[in-house]
Amino acid sequence: MRVVVLASGRGSNLGALIDARREPDARFEIVLVAGDKPDALALRIAEAAGIATLALDPRGYANRASYDADLFARIAEHAPDLVVLAGFMRILDPSALAPWVGRMINIHPSLLPKYRGLRTHERALAAGDAIHGASVHFVTPELDGGPVVSHVELTIEPDDTSASLASRLLPLEHRLLVATVDLLAQRRVSLDRDSVRFDGAPLAAPLRLTGRTLAP
Ligand code: GRF
Repeated sequence: MRVVVLASGRGSNLGALIDARREPDARFEIVLVAGDKPDALALRIAEAAGIATLALDPRGYANRASYDADLFARIAEHAPDLVVLAGFMRILDPSALAPWVGRMINIHPSLLPKYRGLRTHERALAAGDAIHGASVHFVTPELDGGPVVSHVELTIEPDDTSASLASRLLPLEHRLLVATVDLLAQRRVSLDRDSVRFDGAPLAAPLRLTGRTLAP
C-alpha cells in the first residue's frame, strides 16, 4: 500500500510509521511526507529516511481552498492508497477532502467522540475521567468527527498532569497508528458510508489495541 503522511510538527508518529515500514513483513511504503511548516522536524525525519518530502507554505496562497487544492493535486501525483494525518494541524477544505474520504485517516489524542479539537489531556483531567486514550478515525469534513476505526486506552493516575498524560499516551499512539495502518494495508478495514467495516462486517465499536494487536 502506498502511503502519504501529512505532518506539521515533531513527527514522532511519522517516525513510528517509518520504523514499521522497515520491518521485513511491512505491507506499506511511505511515498511522500508533506507538511505546511517548512521547518518542521517531521520533514527532516523523512529526509533522513530517504523519503520524498513536500513543504508547502500556506502563506503563498490566497485562501484555504486554493492551498488545499494544490496540496492534494501534488499528493495525487504520488498515487497514494492512503493519506495519514499525523499531527497535521490544519483544517481541510471540504471540496479538496471529498475525493479522499475513505482513504484518509487521522490520529487524535482522545477517545473520540470525546474531546474533539485541542487540549484533550487537560479536558480529560478537568472532567475527572478515569480513562483517557487515543483514536484513529477516517477523516470527513467534520473536525475529528469521522467514523472511528480504533482506540487505545490509558488509565488516568491520581497524580497525572496534562504533560504526564501526553507523554504516557504518545508511545501508545505510535502503536495504535502502526497497527491501524497495517490493517488498512491488509484491506481488512474500510469505510462504507458512515460505518467502518472490519473483515467485511460493520464495526459496532472501535477496534481496541491490546499490546500491538487490534481486535473488536
Ligand atoms: C499527536 O499527539 C497526535 O495525536 C496529534 O498530534 C500529535 C502529533 O505528534 N494529532 P507527532 O508530531 O506525531 O509527534
